[in-house]
Formats: sequence, C-alpha cells, structure tokens
Amino acid sequence: MFRYSLRGRGDVNEWRDAARGFLLAGITPEFIEWRTMDDADGLFGFDENRLPQPADPPPKITVQPSFIRLAEAVVCHSDPTRFALLYRLLFRLFHSHGLLNMATDSDVTAARRLAKSVGRDYHKMTAFVRFKELPLPEGQAGRRRFVSWFEPDHFIVARVAPFFQRRFTDMDWLIATPKGSASWDGETLKTSDDPAPKPNLRDDTDDLWRIYYASIFNPARLKVKMMTTEMPKKYWKNLPEADLIPGMIARAEASVLDMAARQASEPLPFHHRIQDAAAKVPAAPRAAAGTLAAVREDARHCTRCDIHCLATQTVFGEGPADAQVMVIGEQPGDQEDLAGKPFVGPAGKLFVETLQQAGIERDRLYVTNAVKHFKYQPRGKRRIHQKPNMGEVRQCRWWLRQELDLVKPKLVVAMGATALFALTDMRQKLEDVRSEPIAMEEGKTLFVTVHPSYLFRIPDEGLRREQLARFREDMISVKRLM
Ligand code: URA
Repeated sequence: MFRYSLRGRGDVNEWRDAARGFLLAGITPEFIEWRTMDDADGLFGFDENRLPQPADPPPKITVQPSFIRLAEAVVCHSDPTRFALLYRLLFRLFHSHGLLNMATDSDVTAARRLAKSVGRDYHKMTAFVRFKELPLPEGQAGRRRFVSWFEPDHFIVARVAPFFQRRFTDMDWLIATPKGSASWDGETLKTSDDPAPKPNLRDDTDDLWRIYYASIFNPARLKVKMMTTEMPKKYWKNLPEADLIPGMIARAEASVLDMAARQASEPLPFHHRIQDAAAKVPAAPRAAAGTLAAVREDARHCTRCDIHCLATQTVFGEGPADAQVMVIGEQPGDQEDLAGKPFVGPAGKLFVETLQQAGIERDRLYVTNAVKHFKYQPRGKRRIHQKPNMGEVRQCRWWLRQELDLVKPKLVVAMGATALFALTDMRQKLEDVRSEPIAMEEGKTLFVTVHPSYLFRIPDEGLRREQLARFREDMISVKRLM
C-alpha cells in the first residue's frame, strides 16, 4: 500500500506529478491512499511520500486535454476523496479513451459534480467579493488600495485571481480568505494557499451601497426563493446590504398594496381642466422683474417645447439665490414632477447622501436641471423616463442661462452628459472631461461628473461599487474646489 500526502489546496501540479509516478509504475488505484495536510492525520503523511520505481519499459502516458481541464477544477474542491477519484479516472482513461464521454459512469459523474460545484463557488466569489478602500498614509499619493474578505467553499482563490486582475487592474487589492489569499499591485499577481486572517472591514461606501440597494428593491418583483438561490444566506454575513433584506421582505406585501392604492405616478387625467381653473385664481403679486423669483414664476408657464404637455408642473432650481455652487442634473424624474422640487427621488437620495459623505451641505448649493419638465412615456400605470433630445435641451437652456446669470455661481457642477451639453453645446464623452476643474467664461469653473441615476443602471455589481466610490471622490473634489 502506498500513502501519499499533498497540500491539497487547489494546485493541480502536485497531484499530477505524484499521479504520473504511480501510473508509470502501473500502480492500481486501490493500492494508493491519498491524504491532504488538512486531513486529521495528513500532517504525518508527509514523511511517507515515496513514489515507486517506474515499470521497465515505462508506459507512454498521454492525457487528453479535457481530462486536464476537469482535474484542474476538481483539485480545487474541498472533498478529501477528490485525489483518489481523479487517479481512478486517470487510470481507467489509460485503458478506455472514451471514458469521459460516458455520462452514466459513476466516476465521471462524481468528478463533473465536483467541478460544477467549484464553478459555482467561482461565480459566487466574482459576485460577492466586496472591496473596502484603505486610506493612503497621510501625505502619500499613489494608487488606491482595497481589501476584501470572502469565505469560499473550495480552494479557488488562485483560480479566480486572474478574473479580479483583469477587472480591477487600475487599483491595488488584496482578497483574504480562510482558504488562501490573492493580491495585485499593478504589476504582479500573487497568490498564497495559506489561510489568511480576517481583516477589519468597513468603509463609507457601505452606506451608499445600502441606500442604492434599498432604492432598487422592487417589492412587486420580489421572489424570495430565487433571491436566496442567487444570494445564498451563507454569504450574507459579509455583505453590507444583507441586514436590510429581512425588513424589505417583511414590508414587501404592504408596499405593493400601498403602491397600488396610491397610483401616484399616473398623470392627472384632467390636468388641462385643472390648469384652466388654476389660471382663474387671482395671480399672486408679481416678483420684482429680473429676480430669480420672477424667472421661476415665468418658468411655471413654459411651453417652449412639447414636454410641458405631459408633465405635472415645472420643476425649477432650488437653493440660495447667491449660491457659490450650482449643480445641474438632467431633468426631473417621476417623484420630482409630483413634488415640484429637484432631486427628491432615488437619484436625489443618493446624491444627498454622497454630499454628506463629502462634507457638503445641500442647503449651500443651488440645485437645478438642464430641462425643467419631466419627459416620460406612460406604460400602464408607470411613467418611464425618456431622455430629452437636443432640441428640448436647447429650448430649456433659456431658463438655465437666466439661473446662471442671476445666481452667478463660481463653480458649476454638471452631473451627466445632458447637463454638460446644456452648458457647452458639445456632445463629449464624459470620461474625457470628468473629475477635472475646467475654466468657463466669466471666471466660473466647470466640474463634470456622472449623473447619480447612471449608478443605478450599472448591471455589474463590482463596477457599480467602483463607480459609487468614484462619484464620492468627485464630490470630495467639489468640496475642495468650493
Ligand atoms: N434626475 C435629475 O437629473 N434631476 C432630478 O431632479 C431628479 C433626477
């Protein structure tokens, strides 16, 4: 009987070298006992490793690539019997080439099941790793640094690490797990199969992330079973949003009933009649000409483009008439249209939260939009946001220019491409002008960033977190410029 001990932490090479030695000597599977260092008695096994003499003449060994790919996945599994299973398969393959195509063979199905489980673990790791930013040491510039903690079921860290290298190439990161760690510094990808200690993790993006998560939760679409299959509970303890989930599930039914009862987002059916009636109400005393209040009043009756036909009301800018900073969005959304105030819906909440994290008080900003009416398409009871076209933005610039002339901000923050177009009449890629102060006419400075609703639309979770952090960085730059 031969005993062979391996580290058994996902490296196919150590098993392959041993398996090759046994195969060259013609040792049949039942005469080998495979152990790993993590087995209770595996540590003692290391001294016993010995390979038999090859047969004379040694057999010629060729292994099909599909078996190597399968073995590379199976060795990552934490099942202690995996090495014996793989050797059995290898030995049998030697005599029966088509074995891997036999879907009913019990060794083949067992190996495929382990490989599938490793694949699932890989996928979950790419989905649920949450990076937390580590501040750079005081006064030190350099690449941003992130750390994360994940608890995989299997020894997959080295297998998944290249995925993170490709995805997060422009930052330094460390992924620590109880089954090894991986790190990237822009040049070298390092992996270790030693268990890593759990780092102390928490950063400011957690709160943003939770707000984002709560905002996109749609109680009408809730499917608890599917949700827990996609995001099994064992991962929850390391996800900042997870503790919101039970409450959201518990409130879902009531929220759906409430949404149905309110039907708040339907356009008013008789809004022309209501407008006519409102027109008969004696007008309030007119604000002094040439003031922001007078322009706001004029904008209430704006018919410069067709969007006003569907919208409930004009949503004019809000904030101090002598604000140093003016922030410009795209156009009011569903909730802003009903409230008559800019940035009060989900994008507004994310915006205000980010301002707070950057240390900016919203009350000090004049906040407005490039377009002052809500453009949408009715779909059933919902109103689906529609991007304003260039003609509409140009028409509405009439109001934006007056706001700029009267408020006279020193710093103008354009959130998104529509605001940028309204200010410059140019269609530029945001990335080309983002995050840098740009000189404008009359000594004003322009600062360009993304629109907060863009962050809601990023399908990939990792990218979304990265962009949330960048948006926060932009607001910190705004704070510095103020
Ligand atoms: N998006 C905007 O651009 N403006 C708002 O007021 C709300 C959402």
